[in-house]
Amino acid sequence: MFVENILPYRSRINYYRSQEQALRYDETQSPWHKSLNGTWQFLFLNSPSEIPSAFYEGRYQELSWQQIEVPANWEMVGFGKPIYTNFNYPFPLNVPHVIDENPTGLYYREFTYEEGLGKQTLRFDGVESVFEVWINGRYLGKSQGSRLMSEFDITRSLQVGENQIAMKVSKWSVGSYLEDQDMWWLAGIPRDVTILEEADLFDVKVTPNQKKGTWGIDVALTDIEQDYPLAYQIFFDGTEVLVGSFDRCSVNHVTINQPKLWSDEVPNLYTLVIKVADEVYTAVRFGLRSVALIDNRICLNGELILFNGVNRHEFSPENGRAMTRNEIYQELIAIKKFHINAIRTSHYPDIPYFYDLCDELGFLVIDECDIETHGFSEKDCPAVDPFWRSEFIRRGQRLVHRDFNHPSVIIWSLGNESWFGDNFVAMADAMRAIDPQRLLHYEGDRQVTVTDFYSTMYTSIDDLKKRAVQNKTQPSHVLCEYGHAMGNGPGSLLEYQEVFENFPSVQGGFIWEWKDHGIKVIEDGQTIYKYGGQFEETVHDGDFIIDGLVLPDGMPSPGVLEFAKVIQPIKFYLAGTQLVIDNRYKFRSLKNFTLHWQTVDETGTTTPLQTLALPDVEPQSLQLVTLPLIADSQGYLNVSLICNQADGVFSAGSIFVQDQLVLQKFETVTKTLQKSENDSQLIFTTEDFEVVINKQTGNISQFSKEGQALLQREMNLSLGRKRISNDMFVQPQWDKAYLNELYSYCDSIQMTAEKDCAFVIIKQTLTPPVVGWSLKLQQKIQIDGSGCHIDYKGWFAGDYPSEVPRIGWELPLKAQVTEVSWLGNGPGESYPDSQQAVYFGNYQLKGEEWAFSYIVPQDAGNRTNVKEVKVALKDQSTLKIEGSGFNFNVIPYDATVNGRYKELVNLPELGQVLRVDTKVRGLGSNACGQEPQERYKAHSEDFKGTFKLS
Ligand code: GAL
Ligand code: MG
Repeated sequence: MFVENILPYRSRINYYRSQEQALRYDETQSPWHKSLNGTWQFLFLNSPSEIPSAFYEGRYQELSWQQIEVPANWEMVGFGKPIYTNFNYPFPLNVPHVIDENPTGLYYREFTYEEGLGKQTLRFDGVESVFEVWINGRYLGKSQGSRLMSEFDITRSLQVGENQIAMKVSKWSVGSYLEDQDMWWLAGIPRDVTILEEADLFDVKVTPNQKKGTWGIDVALTDIEQDYPLAYQIFFDGTEVLVGSFDRCSVNHVTINQPKLWSDEVPNLYTLVIKVADEVYTAVRFGLRSVALIDNRICLNGELILFNGVNRHEFSPENGRAMTRNEIYQELIAIKKFHINAIRTSHYPDIPYFYDLCDELGFLVIDECDIETHGFSEKDCPAVDPFWRSEFIRRGQRLVHRDFNHPSVIIWSLGNESWFGDNFVAMADAMRAIDPQRLLHYEGDRQVTVTDFYSTMYTSIDDLKKRAVQNKTQPSHVLCEYGHAMGNGPGSLLEYQEVFENFPSVQGGFIWEWKDHGIKVIEDGQTIYKYGGQFEETVHDGDFIIDGLVLPDGMPSPGVLEFAKVIQPIKFYLAGTQLVIDNRYKFRSLKNFTLHWQTVDETGTTTPLQTLALPDVEPQSLQLVTLPLIADSQGYLNVSLICNQADGVFSAGSIFVQDQLVLQKFETVTKTLQKSENDSQLIFTTEDFEVVINKQTGNISQFSKEGQALLQREMNLSLGRKRISNDMFVQPQWDKAYLNELYSYCDSIQMTAEKDCAFVIIKQTLTPPVVGWSLKLQQKIQIDGSGCHIDYKGWFAGDYPSEVPRIGWELPLKAQVTEVSWLGNGPGESYPDSQQAVYFGNYQLKGEEWAFSYIVPQDAGNRTNVKEVKVALKDQSTLKIEGSGFNFNVIPYDATVNGRYKELVNLPELGQVLRVDTKVRGLGSNACGQEPQERYKAHSEDFKGTFKLS
């Protein structure tokens, strides 16, 4: 019913006359490829029932033909009309019937054939949506699967000299029920038609292979009928690096020394050239790369992947889905220039040339199968109906075979929006049987039954965080669609990116979508781009097809500029008067760039552009750079990296990335800084201060001033406080959530230290015992002669309580507090909803005068809007904390509720705990009245703050 006589599925093989030609990898230049693209005779009918019998009887000359080009979608060249629907089918759901009003094209052409290699294959890269084909009047076969390759053996049908080929193509087919993607319904032959001359090799499949640090490839050869070895060469960068010969045995292993790995950042490609016969070579370009789940995270060459991707439909405003090579090339160059690293081929396999370019330019591809049944209801959808089982499997197999050799393809996708059922299970099994290495994606597999990770679309940032409590057994989460770029938009990309970058289990996503699919029409001399409903469709979905980051002609919209900035692989921060460059690439250094910078003052006046050659910043590392002039400047700092030499798609001299930073007045105290490190600690020492960071927890474990250590234990972010009487109803929820008992794990530490300054980025997970929620924390810590600056941000994850008592840092002190002087609200205590009797000013209190003493001990002593505090300790040491309007408190150890201080409570010689909080919950009257008003609550929302210790 679906296909007849198509050849067994295989990779898309090509043959060349010489080794040089094979290396050029351009099939269009090969004499073993005869293209049948070009002008064909064409007869356009409203229904297959109008097909004249002369056509079936091979009396082609009797028909009155028009002409059409192949490849083309016929609606784009004047035959019939396009229809746009999102998920509705434009025909009744009456499986497996096909309506009779079915635009049908008869195709016919003649061609000469000269004797070739003895075996010929007719290859279709895609016909929409069903076709039958005849050679010299003899029926050859039938196929569907609009975006899949179909091949026929025509060895016995061809004759030397003149030949005829005829095709019948219909817009609607049984297969159309599986092709309900949100796009134009178009038909015809939008992809290449080729006759391949073949020698004795049916298929070559190359699998990169890494074992114990040694790289190589496994080469599987199929169907060599002759019993002779096949000579091969492997080239890298035009140079031969290996020669050898393959046995007839099915899998040959080849070790590759000094391997150059493939990644989206550094797309190193090798070419394997196999000599199949005299003047017959085949070539496979391959990349050495691994794709695997490591602890359930998606990894490329062992490194965590972050998808900064787009969904891309194949669409040209002039040619529909019959995109030309040049159109595809220009589009991929543009995508790469915006630092996009991944493409989902929404929602079908693309034109083969696309994958060659992705291999070459460096993209991570989710290659999606041609299945969408969005207009069905869940109950009777094709995924659960045995009728469709074999076709699901077939489509999956055809995809995996076709694109097997492309290193850029790292994930297969079963399809889009087709619910879930046994047919997907069978399909996934069949795909894994061919390719056990790559990962599987399908958004409809909500429980990750057959796939390798969670995939959702348009999930809110809150929901993303809610489901992101990670332990290593929880699959990763990828947003196969987010950031809907329809019209003006999308917004909030930065907030998504922060979640992606700080939650290792949320591995990025794919913007919906790259380009508007408007159809170009010239009306009254004006170019306009039409969308749904503008072609007299009865069923349509209007402008839902105009939802890309770029206009139909490729013009970038502001949305793509925003996206490019947000995903920029190189970030910049200020560390006082120095610049920190953060190279987020996993595999490439920054040696090709020069830094350009200038300052902009509050009036907009810029200083002359300065340049600085950049040190070779290693992948995944930070680098401090001194910019002499910014010390006394105010306003903004503009920075950009300029390519010294051409860099992938960037030409020499072009801007690679740029940014603007806010300059802050900074007290510069230049003191020599020393850095040391052991297994558990990072230690930074200046003349006056020492900061120790615990590499296991990511917390500052000691802060010493003038040789005196101030902390009894490490500083930590905490949420709990001793119960306030009016918190009596909410407290049980906090207790249940183990709010007072957070354990800290360090996810990553990056560091750069120069002679007078160090800059550290720490990512942490804070998690309670027993229950399923956690906190993600990011600290940027700068240590220099003036002290230790802490800039932190946090996100709640999982099933966390919707509000907390407070959010902030606790600094457990070694010695008793003798006196506190502060600039802030005072002199008495205050809480967000109780601040009328305090006044901003400079105050001073003895340690024992600090907090009001309630009959029933509870949290007390908070000071609001504090900008600076000096704490004098019994051991003569002092500590200064500066910030901008934080909550401050000094509490005895027994007033913290944190289990970890229990044994310190009864040691009176010990100090108290300082709190530097970004949020504190108000008091309310809830013991017998109302909770604090919403605005006085400490909601479990993203939080951030900065303060400095000296
Ligand atoms: C998704 C779908 C896409 C597109 C998008 C809306 O549900 O997968 O194909 O329809 O919504 O523009
Ligand atoms: Mg859909």
